[in-house]
Amino acid sequence: MADLGLEGRVAVVTGAGGGLGRSHARLLAARGARVVVNDRGTDRAGRGFGSDAADAVRDEIREAGGEAVASYDGVETWEGGQAIIGTALEAFGRVDAVVNNAGILRDVSFKNLEAEQLDTVLKVHLYGAFHVTKAAWPHLRANAFGRVLTTTSGTGLYGNFGQTNYAAAKAGLLGLTRTLAIEGAKYDITCNAVAPLAASRMTEDVLPGPLLDRLRPEWVSPLVAYLCSPACQQTGRVLVAGGGYYARVALLEGPGVTFEEVPAAEDLADRFEEICAVHGGQEPADLDDATRRVAAALGIEL
Ligand code: NAI
Repeated sequence: MADLGLEGRVAVVTGAGGGLGRSHARLLAARGARVVVNDRGTDRAGRGFGSDAADAVRDEIREAGGEAVASYDGVETWEGGQAIIGTALEAFGRVDAVVNNAGILRDVSFKNLEAEQLDTVLKVHLYGAFHVTKAAWPHLRANAFGRVLTTTSGTGLYGNFGQTNYAAAKAGLLGLTRTLAIEGAKYDITCNAVAPLAASRMTEDVLPGPLLDRLRPEWVSPLVAYLCSPACQQTGRVLVAGGGYYARVALLEGPGVTFEEVPAAEDLADRFEEICAVHGGQEPADLDDATRRVAAALGIEL
């Protein structure tokens, strides 16, 4: 079996005091990584604060013979991001991998959504990944090595009733992931997104019972460990993982329809099914590639 090369690497896992983050932190440590167990110890809605959750996971890792330190800073501020990475530098002198996992829920239908419910969810999920990754970025670049993970969600990919705030945050992470993959490439910094499916306090009353039994977070963590490792060169990927199921999600652009003259809106209405068809479509690698495809469809050589 391939050696992942995680030994001695320094990984920061946010929201590692429970659920998926705890499982990721434990597995990374078991593979020899030195881990910052970050958790603010909030409730599911992001309220409250406590150091017990992070401390408990740090202790579990140490008892199992691994190396870990606890961090209680919140990802929702720039200062929090700096402090979390500061803990890694202080304890271990470097940072190699950032697993942006901390999360909360403020589910509400769009009709009833209030500003605070939007702000709080965006701050933790979307801004949080910016804050922690931004603080780590100069160090990853300087080391010419980095593994960044974001935690997206089926909700961000496909939508879900009552979760416009969460869906927008999770979909926003895809833009961050794809673009960091491009900006990091020169420095061997990869960035990938994981859309997990796991039994946790976040999903215990949402997912169907028989599925929950199968969905221990431990099924997701091997993928996280691989994506954090030097062995993995994949970047800009979006992967679904849960209960032993692993798959890549891709954005396809259909073959499309081309007009030589500005069409009437009615012409588009007539051909809308064809325009929407994705069969035979392709997956653009990045914006340049997507633009080249449009140019090619228009018969323009770039
Ligand atoms: P969880 O609620 O067990 O864990 C989230 C952790 O984040 C908690 O320990 C909490 O204290 C911590 N946290 C909250 N706000 C924080 C902040 N501002 N700074 C630092 N830590 C903070 O939930 P779970 O299920 O383990 O979720 C982990 C991630 O996976 C989340 O981003 C979630 O949105 C995502 N996810 C989970 C799914 C699932 O099936 N469990 C499905 C899709 C996405």
